[in-house]
Amino acid sequence: MANKLIKYINFEIKGDDRGSLISIEQNSNIPFEIKRNYYIFNTLPGVKRGCHAHKKLKQLLITVSGKCDILLDNGIIQETAVLNSPNKGLLIEEMIWREMFNFTKDCVLLVLANDYYSEHDYIRNYHEFLILTKKNQ
Ligand code: TYD
Repeated sequence: MANKLIKYINFEIKGDDRGSLISIEQNSNIPFEIKRNYYIFNTLPGVKRGCHAHKKLKQLLITVSGKCDILLDNGIIQETAVLNSPNKGLLIEEMIWREMFNFTKDCVLLVLANDYYSEHDYIRNYHEFLILTKKNQ
């Protein structure tokens, strides 16, 4: 069955005899304007991160190094994406609950976001998330 929640974007690798390079441009090879970047690294064994949804924020996740898994949930279905390559991005749009886990020791998870950090945009309570998704149906 086709994935409904998992939206991968494959980036072109500009390789030459020196190695590889990937370029990401807003509204070009990703479908939004980039206002913020952050990255998650040195994640300890067994740690789960995320465990929230965003009301409006769109994000693109890339493991520039290593691997991690990402559970996606729209309040009805759940799917687990795998990020294990620097040329693969995972697009997570608004109102998707996400949990990142199974981080390898070398994992550097880069996140590009279409807005600045705002705690007001977070839904950190899963029960509240389910109520909001039901209202939007
Ligand atoms: P948090 O969103 O809880 O991380 P996770 O990706 O695991 O959900 O953020 C951890 C801390 O970092 C929290 O105190 C908020 C802060 N933070 C910022 O200041 N700016 C940011 O862009 C982000 C993503 C987090």
